Amino acid sequence: MTGRDHTKVHEAHHIHARQAPQHFYNSQPGPAYVHDMETYKKMYKESIENPEEFFGKMGRDFLHWDRPFTKVQSGSLENGDVAWFLNGELNASYNCVDRHAFANPDKPALIYEADDEADNKIITFGELLREVSKVAGVLKSWGVKKGDTVAVYLPMIPSTVIAMLAIARLGAVHSVIFAGFSSGSMKDRIVDAGCKVLITCDEGRRGGKTIHTKKIVDEGLNGVDSVSHILVFQRTGTEGIPMKAGRDFWWHEETAKQRGYFPPVSCNAEDPLFLLYTSGSTGSPKGVVHSTGGYLLGAALTTRYVFDIHPEDVLFTAGDVGWITGHTYALYGPLALGTTSIIFESTPAYPDYGRYWRIIQRHKATHFYVAPTALRLIKRVGEQEISKYDISSLRVLGSVGEPISPELWEWYHKTIGNENCVICDTMWQTESGSHLIAPLAGAVPTKPGSASVPFFGVNAAIIDPVTGVELPENDVEGVLAVKSPWPSMARSIWNNHAHYINTYMKPYPGYYFTGDGAGRDHDGYYWIRGRVDDVVNVSGHRLSTAEIEASLGNNEAVSEAAVIGIADELTGQAVIAFVSLKNSAHPANPLEGESTADELHRELILQVRGEIGPFASPKCIIIVKDLPKTRSGKIMRRVLRKIASNEADQLGDLSTLANADIVPSLIDAVNVQFLEKLKKK
Ligand code: PRX
Repeated sequence: MTGRDHTKVHEAHHIHARQAPQHFYNSQPGPAYVHDMETYKKMYKESIENPEEFFGKMGRDFLHWDRPFTKVQSGSLENGDVAWFLNGELNASYNCVDRHAFANPDKPALIYEADDEADNKIITFGELLREVSKVAGVLKSWGVKKGDTVAVYLPMIPSTVIAMLAIARLGAVHSVIFAGFSSGSMKDRIVDAGCKVLITCDEGRRGGKTIHTKKIVDEGLNGVDSVSHILVFQRTGTEGIPMKAGRDFWWHEETAKQRGYFPPVSCNAEDPLFLLYTSGSTGSPKGVVHSTGGYLLGAALTTRYVFDIHPEDVLFTAGDVGWITGHTYALYGPLALGTTSIIFESTPAYPDYGRYWRIIQRHKATHFYVAPTALRLIKRVGEQEISKYDISSLRVLGSVGEPISPELWEWYHKTIGNENCVICDTMWQTESGSHLIAPLAGAVPTKPGSASVPFFGVNAAIIDPVTGVELPENDVEGVLAVKSPWPSMARSIWNNHAHYINTYMKPYPGYYFTGDGAGRDHDGYYWIRGRVDDVVNVSGHRLSTAEIEASLGNNEAVSEAAVIGIADELTGQAVIAFVSLKNSAHPANPLEGESTADELHRELILQVRGEIGPFASPKCIIIVKDLPKTRSGKIMRRVLRKIASNEADQLGDLSTLANADIVPSLIDAVNVQFLEKLKKK
C-alpha cells in the first residue's frame, strides 16, 4: 500500500524494542482483583475470543441498567457503525451518583483541593446527588432535553463535575471546553456543537492568579445569538461581573429554586454521553462523540482493573476535566465505582512544590495519576520537597498523555513510589475513551518505558506503514492499530461521520488507526513511539500543527507557515514554527534587518495564544525566505524537523525537493534565530 506517510516517527527512534531495558518490576502489596499474569492472559483471551459473553457479564456486573440490553455488540470497524449493549437503557448520572448515594450517602465522592488550600472542601455522594439534581432542574426549566448539547467552560472545580453529571442526568450531551482555551476557540466549539446553553463561572483561580472566565465567554459569544442561557457559578464572588439580562443567570440563585432530587432520564446505551473536541491533522478541531453505555463501562473497567481500585481507595487524577483524562479518571471511572476522586484546581508549583505531596498526605491518596511533563518539572526542582511529606498511602502511580522515558519511570518508581508502588504507564486517547495499553496493577509485570499489554477487549495490532500489512509476530515496529471494536471507542465525529471514517477506519481497512508509531518486543510488550501524523504533544496537550499554522497565517505579514514538533527536555515536544513573509523586504524580516523582528515574533506568539490558547504558543518562530517544498508544492516538514533538531547532517534524500537550494539558508536561520539563542539561555 502506498500514499501514506506514517513512517515519520521511526526516523527519530533509533531504539528498537529489542534494545530497550528488559527487566521486570512487580510490586503491589496486598491482593489485586486480577492477581497474576496468567489470570490476565486468560481474561484477555476470553475478551477477544468471546466478547459477547465477556462484556455482557461485565456490563451487567458493573452498571445499573433501567432496561437490560438484548445484544452485546453489533457493527464493524470497517463500516464505522459499531454499537454496544443494544436496546439497553441506563443513565450515567444514576450510575455515578444515585446508587452510591443510596448505599453510602456520607462517603466522600469528591475531594476539592482548591487553588488556595483554605478553600478545600469535601462533597459526599449524598450532597452530590442533591447538587446534580438541582442543576438538572435548572437546565430542564430552560428546556434542555435528551440529545441537546450543553457547553461547559469551567476550571477544575466540583461544579464542573456537578454540571457534567446534571447534563447527563437529562440525557443531554455535554461538551466540556478546557478553561485554558481562548474566546475564539471556545466560540468555534460552541457553534460546531450547536449548544444553546453554556455553564461557566465568574472567574477562575490558578496558581494564585485570576482568570477572567466570564469576560472570555462574553468576548467569545459576542455576535453569537444561538446561546439562549448561561448559568454562571460564583467561584470568586468578585463584584461587577456583567450579566446579560434574560441570558445570564447565577448558579446559586437558580439552584436555590430547585428541589434536591431530580429523576434521571433513561438513555439508550448508544445515546451520546458527551462530545470532547480534540486536535487532528486538519485545522479545525473535531468533536469526538462518546456513547453512554460502552464509554461508561470502559471507564469503570479500566479504573477497577488497571488501577486495581478497591472500595476505600482515593484516586488523585491530576489532569484537568477539560481533557479526556479528567472525564474518564477524575469523573466517570471513579464515580461509576463509587470511589473518592480528588479534584485539583491548582498547579504542582502552587503555593510551593510540595503541593502534590501535601494533597496525597492529607487525603491518604492511594492512586496518583499524572502526565510525565509534571514529573519532569518536579524532578528538576529536586527531592527535598517530597521527603517532607508522608506519601506512604500510595499504591499505584499512573502516567498518561505522552511517552515516559525509562529514566523518568525509574525515578517515579524510586522517589515517589519508594519502590513499593506499581507504575502504570497508560497509553490511550480522547477517541479510545479509556486505556488501550496499560499494565493491570498487581498482575502484569512492568518494564520502564513500556505501556505493556493491551486492556481487555483491545485487539491491538502493529501494522507495517509501508505495506499496510499487519505484523503478527513479536519484535516488530510499525504503527499501532486495533482490529476489533471495544466498548468505549468513539462512535463518531460530531456532524462529520465521514471524517471519522476517513481518519480512523480508512488508513488500514478493517483496523482502527491510532495515529501512533509503536513497537512490540519479544515478550509481546508495546512501546509507544509517538504520533506519526501532524499532531504534536506538548506537556501532554495534543495540538494540531495545521491549527497553529492557520492561526499564524491569519497575520497579514505572513505568507506561509509550517509548524513542527521537536523533542524538548521539559515539555516532551515543543512547537517550532517556520514562517515566510509576504514581503521579504518586510522591516521585521531578520534576514533583512533586526530592528522590528522581535516585535513580529511577539505579535505572532500573541496571535496563537489569543486564537487558540497559551498552551499552543510556539517555543520559537523562525522567519525564513521560503519553505522547503516538493514539486507538487507540499511542504517537507521532515527537512524542517531535522534542521530544528540540530540534525542538519542527517537530512537524507532531498531529491524530491523542488527548491533544495534554500536548505543552507534554512540551516542559517535556525542557527541564528533558535539554536544560538538556546545556547545563551
Ligand atoms: O500519542 C499518544 C499520546 O497521546 C495521544 C492522545 O492524546 P489525547 O487524545 O489528548 O489523550 C491524552 C490522554 C489519554 C496518543 O495518540 N499518549 C497518550 N498516552 C501515552 C501516549 N504516548 C505514549 N505513552 C502514553 N502512555
